[in-house]
Amino acid sequence: MSDSQLSPQFADRVERVEPSATIAVSNLASELKSQGKDVVDLSVGEPDFPTPENVVEAGKDALDAGHTTYTPSSGIPALREAIASKLRDDGIDADPGELIVTPGGKQALFETVQALIDDGDEVVLLDPAWVSYEAMVRIAGGDLTRVDTTPHDFQLEPALDALGEAVSDATQMLVVNSPSNPTGAVYSDAAMAGVRDLAVEHDITVVSDEIYGRVTYGTEQASLASFDGMSDRTVTINGFSKAYSMTGWRLGYLHAPEGVVDQAGKIHSHSVSCATNFVQHAGVEALQNTDAEVERMRDSFRERRDILVDILADVGVDVSLPDGAFYLMLPVDNDDQAWCEAALEESYVATVPGSAFNAPGYARISYAASEERLREAVDRLVSDGFL
Ligand SMILES: Cc1ncc(COP(=O)(O)O)c(C=O)c1O
Repeated sequence: MSDSQLSPQFADRVERVEPSATIAVSNLASELKSQGKDVVDLSVGEPDFPTPENVVEAGKDALDAGHTTYTPSSGIPALREAIASKLRDDGIDADPGELIVTPGGKQALFETVQALIDDGDEVVLLDPAWVSYEAMVRIAGGDLTRVDTTPHDFQLEPALDALGEAVSDATQMLVVNSPSNPTGAVYSDAAMAGVRDLAVEHDITVVSDEIYGRVTYGTEQASLASFDGMSDRTVTINGFSKAYSMTGWRLGYLHAPEGVVDQAGKIHSHSVSCATNFVQHAGVEALQNTDAEVERMRDSFRERRDILVDILADVGVDVSLPDGAFYLMLPVDNDDQAWCEAALEESYVATVPGSAFNAPGYARISYAASEERLREAVDRLVSDGFL
């Protein structure tokens, strides 16, 4: 075989990105677990509860009823209507025709970025930012401008001046993720209004990733598209993974002005065709009949957040109190990559380096774990000198 067959010329778009750092840590943690190590895995971005029983039953019923074919590309009408109704409850003037149901929120984001970002287009991210935004923009050829909320306790409102300086008429897209992964910050209504003012002034499309929208502990998160002037410039991203504990089902959606839906729909139909049929039926049940279960999970996350913050305070570590999602940023060494690697290899505690989110000096902890495991993790980190 010749050398050229062994090393194909890969496309620039894949050379520009790295594999997901969070998935890399999870893989290493799984490897250690398979070697019999007792790993406390606080790296995973998923609830540790089973999918609600009625949702599982709805999925099984859909399979039994033969819902195993392709569906309309943008989703079954019943689910699109249920999603539109949820969005209307959130104050968004939603129509089922302005929606695409996707295999996970990630695919919805990917299609959005592919539809709107060309080579050299400017996308603004709020740091610390979820790992995949940067990769998606780079794959599309876009350029990144970053605004850091770290000095402001991860809040957006005090960073609005910096955001105002970062955006311009050349900005094509701004990504807002509240509640935030990795910080757990929930942005104030004033912050969202500030985003609206800037977006309108500079004619920017805002991607509002609201996947943790139902996991908040204080005030509810206002949907950006519900703000005056935002309905025709907001792409709302959401999904079933987090609120309904349905990560493996792969179900999400985007809601956007018709033109964006038409263009993103091309990417959608030529890549995944549609989301899985019986999963969409389970999604209808999740949206319509799980309020009590969603609340129960949220209360449990809140309890664990409080426990973890207390345990950390007891060992002298102060953290910003997250108001949503199930993550917390732990201040660690400047070399957070080395810290996380050592904590995993020596204490068998898995966390994600803050650098993955452009937040060096931190490790992201997911507290979607039992109280016993959270205590165990902090005990190990303290006794091995990591905290
Ligand atoms: C901020 C954020 N957006 C989107 C996603 C995508 O989730 P999914 O594709 O499972 O719906 C995730 C998953 O971790 C996330 O944390």
